[in-house]
Amino acid sequence: MKVLLDSSLRRGLQRALLNWYRSQARDLPWRRTHDPYAIWVSEIMLQQTQVETVIPYYRRFLLAFPTVGALAGAPEEKVLKLWEGLGYYRRARHLQAAARLVVKAHTGQLPADAQAWQALPGVGAYTAGAIASIALGEPAPILDGNVKRVLSRIFVVSGPAAGSVVLKKLWALAADLVPAKAPGDFNQALMELGALICRVDGPRCPACPVRKKCRAYASGDPENWPQRMPGKRRPHKTMVAGLVQVGGKLLLGQRPENGLLGGLWELPGGEVKSGETYPAALRRIFRSELGVDIEPGKAAAPGVQHAYTHFSLTLHAYRVRLSGGTPRARFHQALRWVTPGQMVRLAVPLADRKVLRICLKP
Ligand code: ADE
Repeated sequence: MKVLLDSSLRRGLQRALLNWYRSQARDLPWRRTHDPYAIWVSEIMLQQTQVETVIPYYRRFLLAFPTVGALAGAPEEKVLKLWEGLGYYRRARHLQAAARLVVKAHTGQLPADAQAWQALPGVGAYTAGAIASIALGEPAPILDGNVKRVLSRIFVVSGPAAGSVVLKKLWALAADLVPAKAPGDFNQALMELGALICRVDGPRCPACPVRKKCRAYASGDPENWPQRMPGKRRPHKTMVAGLVQVGGKLLLGQRPENGLLGGLWELPGGEVKSGETYPAALRRIFRSELGVDIEPGKAAAPGVQHAYTHFSLTLHAYRVRLSGGTPRARFHQALRWVTPGQMVRLAVPLADRKVLRICLKP
């Protein structure tokens, strides 16, 4: 393996991250086991789903299928039912296909190293590295979205983040960094840092254990990394959202499961058409998506700016009053009237969160 880093920098980063992880890491159920099967299940669930969502699914799944044999022998409907709501159901089908392969072709023995793990359906380089390092103590590197961001910032890796040159460089850095001792903790420290500190928007640098070694931090503008693909400028959208408040409750709609921000609870609204005024856009959207007439009132928040991965937007929020009909979910999966207390427990798109922070200030 190519050595990229100066040994004192490598050691310093390893130590700082491991110490931080051991004192600050979240206590997650899959961090309390060394069972490779359980860790495998957790890593598959975590591929596209947030930690908080995964926890109850992980628990129920392992109660139902405590071993690879139990999973292999279960009816597929039962596996999918336990996956219901987690999304990306292909993951569940692959997981069970892999369990059946393990039972049939490998007499129930799980793979013994990262390379062998990668031969199973649904297990790519990242997942194989995670399982091998966490469950087997193999110093295999990992590179997921969080780790890419962390490494891009520490080492100011420039160039398009999704490009093969940068990916190769990041994998090489991850491989050079992973220690022979406690590789699983180290890899999870990188992920944990990305999830808790080195976040996409507003990294919490003052709390970062490696900020003194981070070249993006030294630059003064850590959010400059990772760098985007050139020529793929994010489209910009002008959008409106309506705050309907009745008796201390606010109306939210759950977005369709498939597609952008799937399953998130949003303020009803949408994109403004060219030439349309904001109030007119709100009237049109409430009519078509909720089946009600409204009267837009005061602007509730000045144009709030936000950038998602695939587009950026300016969101104009208005207080609105229902003037005809009862809201029904025509576009959304469901509508719900929520108190501010209930709202904090729902997944809300970040742009809407910004609006709510401004409008619902006590
Ligand atoms: N995301 C992917 N794997 C993870 C893990 N082991 N802990 C926390 N988040 C993760």
